Amino acid sequence: MMPDDRETPNAAQIRYWNSRGGSSWVPAQSQTDAMLGPLGQAALDAASIEPGHQVLDVGCGCGDTSLTVADMVGPSGGVVGLDVSRPMLDLARTRAQARDNVVFVQADAQTTDLAALQVDRIVSRFGVMFFEDPVAAFSNIRSALNESGRLSFVCWQPASENPWLGFTVRAVADLLEFPPGDSAGPGPFSLGGQGRIRDVLGKAGFRKPSVTPLVGELDIVGGADLEDAVAYSVQMSPIPGMVSDDPALAATVTARVTAAFEDAWNEGSICLPYGCWVVTAQR
Ligand SMILES: C[S@@+](CC[C@H](N)C(=O)[O-])C[C@H]1O[C@@H](n2cnc3c(N)ncnc32)[C@H](O)[C@@H]1O
Repeated sequence: MMPDDRETPNAAQIRYWNSRGGSSWVPAQSQTDAMLGPLGQAALDAASIEPGHQVLDVGCGCGDTSLTVADMVGPSGGVVGLDVSRPMLDLARTRAQARDNVVFVQADAQTTDLAALQVDRIVSRFGVMFFEDPVAAFSNIRSALNESGRLSFVCWQPASENPWLGFTVRAVADLLEFPPGDSAGPGPFSLGGQGRIRDVLGKAGFRKPSVTPLVGELDIVGGADLEDAVAYSVQMSPIPGMVSDDPALAATVTARVTAAFEDAWNEGSICLPYGCWVVTAQR
């Protein structure tokens, strides 16, 4: 049972991922997986996952990484996908129907007792940046590893290194008042600094952290046509929650984003820089 008390840890994030976050990510699952798949794969490559391993996928969302790992560990291994979002887990379960080596659990990785799991590997694709108390969360996550267990995840570098994520917001920055991109609180950039990652992991008890930059360009169009690309990028931004009460403003914003896409459109692609960290550590 997920807590609904507003004072419980991570209550705001749990509400978000069960409402706006979930309803943005579920319909966008295939485009998001196409875009983020190679970045998540870098964390899986660094994890040295072997057939027979038991693996925990933290913040598994709609399940893409869990399904990939299920193939890697094979029938003698197993995967637990952990997430707070009911709608995203519903989709993950549907996608995993034909498999018997992956289960999905709705629980908070910071507060749920995970010590009974004793898995060989813990992985995450952008699912570990949303904790109110990252040291408590990573300590708890660490307790799920067996003695020789290892952690491997990918997270974003600061917003300044990720212009691709701000493209849509920048197009309407004069129309809407957005909260600051980078913050110390829970959010996509909360582990943006290399020093911050090492500090959190060290305080949580992890040994031998390795933080490796992974940079390149992401195509924010992802093979879609212009209209679908605009719809996807608006849906995945904070914009819908800011214009839901004002249809005229929503139409103006969509027109502005469409114009920005048209300007940047380059033979069906808009490639913009991204920066993330591939992080590994030992229990
Ligand atoms: C950016 S999404 C990434 C989802 C997925 N890993 C992917 O790459 O498609 C972040 C995920 O972390 C989950 N999440 C946020 N806070 C969490 C927590 N305290 N415990 C477990 N999952 C959490 C969200 O519900 C969401 O599915």
